[in-house]
This record gives sequence, C-alpha cells and structure tokens, in this order.
Amino acid sequence: MSKNIAIGVDIGGTGIKAAPVNLKTGEFTDDRYRIPTPQPSTPDAIARTVAKVIAKFNPSKKVPIGVAFPGVVQHGIVKTAANVDDSWIGTDLRAIIRDYAGHDVHVLNDADAAGYGEYKFGAAHGRNGSILMTTLGTGIGTAMIVDGTLVPNLELGHIIVDGHDAEDRAAESARDRYGYDWDQWIAELQKYYSEMERLLWPDLIIVGGGISKSHHMFLPKLRLRAPIVPAELLNGAGIVGAAAAAAAEAKREREEAKLAEKAAKKAAAKAQASS
Ligand code: BGC
Repeated sequence: MSKNIAIGVDIGGTGIKAAPVNLKTGEFTDDRYRIPTPQPSTPDAIARTVAKVIAKFNPSKKVPIGVAFPGVVQHGIVKTAANVDDSWIGTDLRAIIRDYAGHDVHVLNDADAAGYGEYKFGAAHGRNGSILMTTLGTGIGTAMIVDGTLVPNLELGHIIVDGHDAEDRAAESARDRYGYDWDQWIAELQKYYSEMERLLWPDLIIVGGGISKSHHMFLPKLRLRAPIVPAELLNGAGIVGAAAAAAAEAKREREEAKLAEKAAKKAAAKAQASS
C-alpha cells in the first residue's frame, strides 16, 4: 500500500464499511467492503467485524486507519450510543479495536468524520465560514466546521422539535418507522432544518447518508436561508473523513515526537555543558 493511502472504517447502525483512500484525491483505491452490523451490536461483536473489514485490505502497520463511530467519542472513549448497544458506553474504542485488529487506530464520531471528509475533498472543499454537515441515516449526525476547524461531538440530531427527539422523526429511518411518504418526511426535514438555521445560522448545509443519493427528491423542496447541498462523497464521506483524520493525526504524532526528541537532545547537551 503506497504512502499516500489510509484506511477509513465507518461503523453504522446497519453496516460496517471500509475502503482504502487516496489522501491526495479522497478517492477509494479499492472497492468498498461492507459487512452488516452484527446484532446485538455489542463492543466485542462490532470490534470483531471492524477487524475483518480492516484485514480485507491487509494494511501494513504504517498505514493510518481511522474508525468512525455512531456516538460521542471523547478522547477515545465512547460516551453515547443512541443506535448501537448501550454496553458501548464507557468503552475505550481505540483499545478494543486495537485488541481485535492488531492495529493502532484513530477514532472519532461518524458525523465528524463525514464533515471532515466533505471539507477536505467534497462539497465544502476549502470553504471558510460556518458549515453544517448533517447525515441522515439510522440517526441524524451533525458536525460543524468553522473556518476549517471541526467542532467535535456536536449532537444536534437530538434537539427537541415539536416535543420529540429530532432524529426520531427526521432521520432516514423515520420513513420506515412511521411509513412516511416523501411529502410527510420532507415536512419533518423542513421543521428540523429550520430549527437548525434558527439556532446556528450556517453559511452552507451539507446532507449526507445513504438517502443523499436521492437528494433530488427532497432537497429542492426545502425552504431555507442557506444553500443546502448533497454530500459530494455521498455515503462515502465517513470513510474518507476517517481515513483523512487518521492520516492528519499520524502526522501530528510524528511532529510531536520529533519536537520531543529535539527538546530531549537540547536538554542533554545543556546538562553535559554544565557538568
Ligand atoms: C448519534 C450521533 C451520530 C448519529 C449518526 C446519533 O444518534 O447520537 O453521535 O453521529 O446518530 O450516526
């Protein structure tokens, strides 16, 4: 695997997907591999599946691997699990994946990964201002990128709209749950995005998740102040963003190690000079 490739893994409510990503272009360098999310979606069952999708690409230890998780991930620890098994809460995501996959990984929230992916290579490429990424799937994931900086772990899919957790009515899964036709679902989306605009005033709204493939069915019908556009990386944004974030983290770690080495050398030289 070449130097400019990282692997992205996206853990979803229904599927666990992975692909190697070209870090210069954001394109997959091999076909995406998907395994249905095991049920119950416990830490062991998911970590075992993540290990399988990683093994499919047989990466060397040097290849950065990013894993996107559908809940809050703070400093590597899972804090919420709205759409996977509750036993995830409090789990060290990085450690459990490392145990099963035999690989060090970088971990982050799935919507944060998707937002980062769209900022690096997609609909928000290089754009300044406040960009709101939303993913419509089993739940609603949200991320904000402000002048290129990601604000992690925003959980704005759970704001209360009409007395309900927004994702219950406006995620893609709500269409099946309530048997909504397009117009009914669009009415829920309108309420949700109007509320987001009222609170956040984004300059651009991006819509990802599997349903973004059918964006022409619903995006033109939403009446909003900001432009609302489909994710350019479609459902691959999470994979691409996880891979890019892992590569960025690996670079940061290398630079930090270099600085620490330099500082240690300097301190040793000083100690020798004064002895
Ligand atoms: C979770 C978020 C996640 C989103 C999309 C929500 O239910 O709380 O953390 O990003 O689903 O998976």
